[in-house]
Amino acid sequence: MANKKVYVGMSADIIHPGHLNIIHEAQKLGDVIVGVLTDAAIASYKRLPYLNYDQRSLVVKNLKGVSEVIPQTTLDYRPNLEKIKPDYVVHGDDWKEGVQKETRQKVIETMAKWGGKVIDIPYTQGISSTQLNQKLKEIGTTPEIRLKRLRRLIASKPIVRICESHSGLTGLIIENTVVDVNGQKREFDGMWSSSLTDSTSKGKPDIEAVDLTTRLHDLNDALECTTKPVIFDGDTGGKIEHFVFTVRTLERLGISAVIIEDKVGLKKNSLFGTDAIQTQDSIEHFCEKIHAGKQAQITDDFMIIARIESFIAGKGLDDALKRANAYIEAGADGIMIHSKDKSGEDIKSFCKELRKTHSSIPIVVVPTTYNHITETELAEWGANVVIYANHMLRSAYPAMVNTAKSILTNCRSYEANDMCMPVKEILELIPGTK
Ligand code: SPV
Ligand code: MG
Repeated sequence: MANKKVYVGMSADIIHPGHLNIIHEAQKLGDVIVGVLTDAAIASYKRLPYLNYDQRSLVVKNLKGVSEVIPQTTLDYRPNLEKIKPDYVVHGDDWKEGVQKETRQKVIETMAKWGGKVIDIPYTQGISSTQLNQKLKEIGTTPEIRLKRLRRLIASKPIVRICESHSGLTGLIIENTVVDVNGQKREFDGMWSSSLTDSTSKGKPDIEAVDLTTRLHDLNDALECTTKPVIFDGDTGGKIEHFVFTVRTLERLGISAVIIEDKVGLKKNSLFGTDAIQTQDSIEHFCEKIHAGKQAQITDDFMIIARIESFIAGKGLDDALKRANAYIEAGADGIMIHSKDKSGEDIKSFCKELRKTHSSIPIVVVPTTYNHITETELAEWGANVVIYANHMLRSAYPAMVNTAKSILTNCRSYEANDMCMPVKEILELIPGTK
């Protein structure tokens, strides 16, 4: 008689004795088939794993007691179970409670169709992925791992969520802020190094007056205390002859992508729209810049994203699409489409049209003015990356002005105290302060 089939689903990012115990127990019941969750399946409910699917499945394949490894492409076990019809599903008994409870129930019902059973193994105490994750964060990351992460995120998530950072402190906020929404943890996927907020926080206008060396010097603060990927706002990219050096420098630092906008001359912030004189580059010249940048990079992972300013410059959809096609042809790894229109309709029609000819080219959107549109809607339009481009600085500034006014008005700080975080908290905010 053929051996019984035992199915075990796992992410297997950081293998610990708890995993080995499950496999050991499963093996007593028959041949163990491990469904390793794909990056997309994991990213659908928590952060992207450190190791990619191929790496994780290779590790699991080589664990004692594992007969076979297959991908589990959804959090839902049912598609794999229907295919394999195992005699048993083995899982740690922690899934009886919390967010996984529903998953377990569905597994029980599905297995019952062919008389299969669910076996809950007592959870291994004293070791948890959460603790290990914390330790890994403390170790930090390498430029190479950080750089690759953006492409992995784009491949794994319906929409990648990026927030502006202009300092070590805002980097830490983006690195560590997590909210729990209906039992699911939600956090930012990475940082946007914005020319607007980098310039503004230095008291300078957003006109490419802050040079690359200065911007990178400050970005380094965020790189030192975070692990998440960075998209760098490269403004116009400058002269073609200079842009090639920018690409090399960013790549060496582990930045995942640079976005350059198709403008020439004195650059003004896009949100001025046609109120400022803004000259769009010719398609030919901008394509040359993209091409030169792509030739300069060393890895396959670094991304050069072309930003189209047609809507900002008062031109229409046809111009934007024509440019998108040309820029992609020139080698752009993604397209950022910008607008200051409040409805979002121009962005929506651009995304939908571009998707007809390019099903997978990453599209980046910056919904500063059309901020009522949700991430789910943006993803439905075809966008892959959403950038909240200036919100850390825009929220901090009014708070600081209010405090300054309160101190001036009252000739003391007593009244402002409640607007400020407690001294104890600021002292404990950064590990190692004590
Ligand atoms: C930035 O954040 O600097 C940008 C986006 O380039 S915007 O300010 O909308 O032009
Ligand atoms: Mg900018």
